[in-house]
Amino acid sequence: MVEDFARCAAMAREAGAQVVEANLSCPNVASAEGDIYLDARLSGRIARALAAAAGPLPVALKIGHVPDPRRLARLLGAVAGAARAVILVNGLSRRVVRPDGKPAFGPGREAAGILGHAIHEAAVACVSAGAEIARRERLDLEVIAVGGVAALQDAEDFFAAGAHAVLMGGAPMYDPLLAVRMKRVHPEW
Ligand SMILES: Cc1cc2nc3c(=O)[nH]c(=O)nc-3n(C[C@H](O)[C@H](O)[C@H](O)COP(=O)(O)O)c2cc1C
Repeated sequence: MVEDFARCAAMAREAGAQVVEANLSCPNVASAEGDIYLDARLSGRIARALAAAAGPLPVALKIGHVPDPRRLARLLGAVAGAARAVILVNGLSRRVVRPDGKPAFGPGREAAGILGHAIHEAAVACVSAGAEIARRERLDLEVIAVGGVAALQDAEDFFAAGAHAVLMGGAPMYDPLLAVRMKRVHPEW
């Protein structure tokens, strides 16, 4: 698997990419590759293999929600130096039910990744913890934030928490000009 990540990074570099983003998390798979970010040592090995294959290109790692700051510190310490940035957070895995209490996506798929406003508070807390760890441990690592941004204030929450940049997942799908309006108010973003 480590070699697979490295091969993909090399392909991206050959194709002319300016940055390599690798996904160490996914709340919508039933297999273990969705939880790589919970294994700090493996994440570190993957980060180093990616950096070697990406050469001069910066490497960013998308990771999931880590509520325990000590666990987050171990993860960030393991990938810093190889990865240039971490992107926090992927959708949160939660039980999703219909009004009658039955699994919304049918039996066998009780949990699914949720996103949007429901995860914003948790995402801000995780970004805040990550930025604080990077500062305290003097890690050469930027924290990029994502999770529940649908208005200017939501992005401000992330910048106030120490984010280097803010991304949006779901909201631009129904409000495609959201980022354009934000940039008009905050060209420095
Ligand atoms: C249609 C859709 C597809 C997504 N696919 C991926 C993906 O392939 N890899 C990934 O890391 N995150 C993926 N995400 C998650 C987003 O990158 C983001 O982490 C999550 O949606 C939380 O941000 P939001 O609340 O702004 O949507 C996807 C989100 C959406 C809405």
